[in-house]
Amino acid sequence: MVMKRPGTLRPDPATFIQANLPISPVPSIPEIRLHTAGPASGLWRLAGRGETDPPPYWAYPWAGGAVLARHLLDRPETVAGRRVLDFGAGSGLVAIAAAKAGARAVTAVDIDANAIAAIGLNAAINDVSITAIAADIIEEPPPETDVLVIGDLFYDPALALRVMAFLRRCQAAGIQVLIGDPLRAHLPQGELSRIASHAVTDFGAGTRGGAVQAGVFSLSAMTADATKREGPAATA
Ligand SMILES: C[S@@+](CC[C@H](N)C(=O)[O-])C[C@H]1O[C@@H](n2cnc3c(N)ncnc32)[C@H](O)[C@@H]1O
Repeated sequence: MVMKRPGTLRPDPATFIQANLPISPVPSIPEIRLHTAGPASGLWRLAGRGETDPPPYWAYPWAGGAVLARHLLDRPETVAGRRVLDFGAGSGLVAIAAAKAGARAVTAVDIDANAIAAIGLNAAINDVSITAIAADIIEEPPPETDVLVIGDLFYDPALALRVMAFLRRCQAAGIQVLIGDPLRAHLPQGELSRIASHAVTDFGAGTRGGAVQAGVFSLSAMTADATKREGPAATA
């Protein structure tokens, strides 16, 4: 848990990350290195004063992102030459893998401004170009992209429902959706088809180094009823 200390001044995120989060290879993804938090990083110093500030999930590579990154690096044809948007990008792990796999343009979106600073630094370390945007687009029309990648966003029940509604709208607009997840409690497995599996490290389970068998999933075909519920496809 990250302690918040009222009254302390927040440092510049990029300067703080460079000074306090060492650069490490991602377990199972040696091709990618990230600024990663450790016990001495003092992440609480970047936390805001408000209870609504997002937790610093960007400071770690998550199992859902790791399995998706592994998949894109092993199967570059999945994204080569295509526009890719990494939704809930965190550290930028999946976005970086997409760029390394030859995506034409990569956008990383996260609600957390600290994540955007981390993605900028991590993209530079890995010598790739990524457009990082701080925004909450979950209620917006589908973005202009060919592929939407989403790593480890099913950890909260309310968020999982909103994410699935967004992904269904993206699917209806003709966007290919790829999900990476280590079978978190709120992953709607009945609506997904597994297309790959890899053993990756799971920070989210608190195992700190334990490997889990995580999956890459696509959305199952929409039924006529579901299509009606979602309404007509938005024009991206
Ligand atoms: C568990 S982390 C996963 C990060 C990364 N995808 C990975 O797998 O390593 C979830 C991320 O989703 C972001 N997030 C949560 N809700 C979001 C929303 N509505 N829009 C964009 N990002 C969101 C969080 O800020 C956090 O960085």
